[in-house]
Amino acid sequence: EKGGYEHFMLKEIHEQPKAITDTYRGRLLRNEAIIKMAGVEDNMKKFLNANRIIIVACGTSWHAGLVAEYIFEELARIPVEVEYASEFRYRNPIIGENDVVIAISQSGETADTLAAIKLAKSKGAFVFGVCNVVGSSIAREAHAGAYTHAGPEIGVASTKAFTTQITILTLMALRLARAKGTISSSDFRQHLLELELIPNKVEQALKSDAHIKMIADIYKDSRNCLYLGRGFNFPVALEGALKLKEISYIHAEGYPAAEMKHGPIALIDENMPIIVIATKKGHYEKVVSNIQEIKSRKGKIIGIVTEGDTQVRELADHVIEVPDTLESLSPLLTTIPLQLLSYHIAVLLGKNVDQPRNLAKSVTVE
Ligand code: M6R
Repeated sequence: EKGGYEHFMLKEIHEQPKAITDTYRGRLLRNEAIIKMAGVEDNMKKFLNANRIIIVACGTSWHAGLVAEYIFEELARIPVEVEYASEFRYRNPIIGENDVVIAISQSGETADTLAAIKLAKSKGAFVFGVCNVVGSSIAREAHAGAYTHAGPEIGVASTKAFTTQITILTLMALRLARAKGTISSSDFRQHLLELELIPNKVEQALKSDAHIKMIADIYKDSRNCLYLGRGFNFPVALEGALKLKEISYIHAEGYPAAEMKHGPIALIDENMPIIVIATKKGHYEKVVSNIQEIKSRKGKIIGIVTEGDTQVRELADHVIEVPDTLESLSPLLTTIPLQLLSYHIAVLLGKNVDQPRNLAKSVTVE
């Protein structure tokens, strides 16, 4: 059942090229240069008249929501707020008929997310579900939705659910951008083309596995770990830190790279590994100067870089390459090495990767 892999998590990491393809299949029609999503099409007016989109989710799904915030705002120019479902539901949120609420949930059973959409519905909002489990409670409660086609995710640490959620949300943002006219037809086509190339590029990124395992062996005994990223890759830094915490029990924090100087920089010494997402485009030069600041404080730098990068390679202790793509799609690639890094550290430490202590696959308690 683990398809020859030692753990479900590793199997699911490796299933991502297929999961992403399955998620855009039938929706991304490149030859016709269109995106077809019934749940969006049927409710186009609601989306186009929306004052804003509010995304509610928990954990990794919340991180996918944060990536989506950057993508929706950049492509479709719709204001987006991303809320922890548990905070949203308990604070008497200001929400009405012209709001669109998107709930993201792999299991479709997360109690706080379910309660958040019930509340939003009761206040007249239109609720759209992005779930993986077909027929799940959130999928049924939403007015409309789109399923991620990741297939069953068994490992408690979410991997392929995350990248397929980002895929769906990117398709939605592109579809709405086209309808609103906030993207040119050539840009739109380029996005479709690049999105179709992602599964192969994920495959490429997975090839760094042995190199990542070697890095994992060097840092597995660290007590703390910092993850930094900017823009589209800031949420990826948060997600990388969550992955490490939940399966290896090493304390990790994700931060927007520029926030480092507002506090976390005080933590940096020769014992602190810092994973920096420093792909080309996306404020690259600024991230490089963050890396210099880390280096001068003797922090250990693991750079996630674009293939062929030379600048970060000179400064960092290690680099892990990912293929080049559009900046907005880069989270689909940069997240891969972070999943593998936490997987290998947890395995090397002898932890129960698929069922980490104190955690459940779906959190149905509040
Ligand atoms: O099923 P959901 O997507 O609603 O689950 C949300 C979180 O409980 C989940 O993402 C959790 O954070 C994962 N264990 C992260 O790997």
